[in-house]
Amino acid sequence: MMMWHNKFVVVGVTGGIAAYKAAELVSVLTREGAEVQVIMTASAQQFITPLTLQTLSKNPVIVDMFAEPKAWEVQHVALADKADLFLVVPATANLIGKVANGIADDMLTTTIMATRAPVVFAPAMNVHMYANPIVQMNIHKLRGFYHFVEPGSGRLACGYEGKGRLAELSEILETAGRVLNSGTSAQQTPGEYSNRVVTNINDQLEAQQCGVADYSGLTVLVTAGATREAIDPIRFITNRSTGKMGFAIAEAAARRGARVILVAGPTNLPAPPGVELVAIESARDMYAAVTEHYPGVDVVIKSAAVADYRPKQRAGQKIKKGEGDLILELERNPDILAQLGKTKQRQVLVGFAAETNDLIRHASDKVRRKNLDFIVANDVTQAGAGFGTDTNMVKFIFPTGEIHELPMMPKSEVAGAILDQVLVILRQRDKE
Ligand code: PMT
Repeated sequence: MMMWHNKFVVVGVTGGIAAYKAAELVSVLTREGAEVQVIMTASAQQFITPLTLQTLSKNPVIVDMFAEPKAWEVQHVALADKADLFLVVPATANLIGKVANGIADDMLTTTIMATRAPVVFAPAMNVHMYANPIVQMNIHKLRGFYHFVEPGSGRLACGYEGKGRLAELSEILETAGRVLNSGTSAQQTPGEYSNRVVTNINDQLEAQQCGVADYSGLTVLVTAGATREAIDPIRFITNRSTGKMGFAIAEAAARRGARVILVAGPTNLPAPPGVELVAIESARDMYAAVTEHYPGVDVVIKSAAVADYRPKQRAGQKIKKGEGDLILELERNPDILAQLGKTKQRQVLVGFAAETNDLIRHASDKVRRKNLDFIVANDVTQAGAGFGTDTNMVKFIFPTGEIHELPMMPKSEVAGAILDQVLVILRQRDKE
């Protein structure tokens, strides 16, 4: 992609759940030789930190128009003039609405307003917001001046299914490259857009279909919960996993049309609708169930917290209290995920890493050692993350060392983001 070499690209990031995907975009553009300047809106910072984008773009991120030094009066004009291309990823309904109505009240909107460079918007928002006639009218109005990358259909982080998910990164880059090469500013005269709005809105509304099944035809195996390693008939060693994370993934995959096999340790959670539940107790039970199904599945997501050790002896009767201390000798359990990594064929293999220290170092080691496609790393010392909570805060870590950082979000949304990432990998493979 030589086309990006020495190009000055301004990336505008607005406040939506897809903001973290801007990090990947910035990383690709920088790698391809573009000089990237990121401008974030105030709400974008609730979803991704300026530091992440600053590190990836190798340029200070502009977040505040009135920050010192007070060069903003000229800065937005200078950036507007210097830019070869503007990309707004993700573009929220709010940002689109502002630009469509000539509102320039922050650094991003003023710079867009001041530029003659082509601007590409990649909208991402809730299905119903995207279908809202006002949003559609704004998009339609802007189409006369700017370029758009259609959002994709599928399950959104908000739980709804339909159109509104940020387009694939490859699509955004393809459109951006085409616009850059064509040299069009797209700032044509708006033309007779008002008559076309009505048809366009009707088309859009008709196109809203629930139940989009982007996983249909795929079999997903999910592991969830804790294993129990018996000491005697009434005692066991276990951990704090409740199964919430894994059950959320299984439920999301089933809603998206997958055949789902959920191998789960003991839990109070009901089996999600449409999921084949395989209840197990110990790590060795889980090993047997998972390896039996492995050859027939397309995706494995191992969110279970598996005991690394089990008591060497399992007493046949309840162990009686004695005078002194009791020493339990433990032996290693099989590492299920490592075994799957060794025998991997076409499956996409996703692991989890629950860490209390050196999260990135430990998780990066696991992603490579276990031959995974990526690992979902959670720092379980963070409030609202890890065991038992309804939310989680994770990073996707890839064998290449690339990291995608997600904000704190409900486990159902983390599940959606994992499934989105798996689809990106599967589609990438299809192209190879
Ligand atoms: O169930 P919740 O209460 O919702 O909590 C969610 C969670 C914290 C359990 C989940 O988010 C999580 O982090 N799961 C992985 C926990 C873990 O055991 O991580 P680990 O770093 O020990 O293991 C790494 C990976 O290898 C995991 O995918 C694990 O399933 C797998 N493993 C580990 C040991 C083993 N013997 N066999 C394995 O397959």
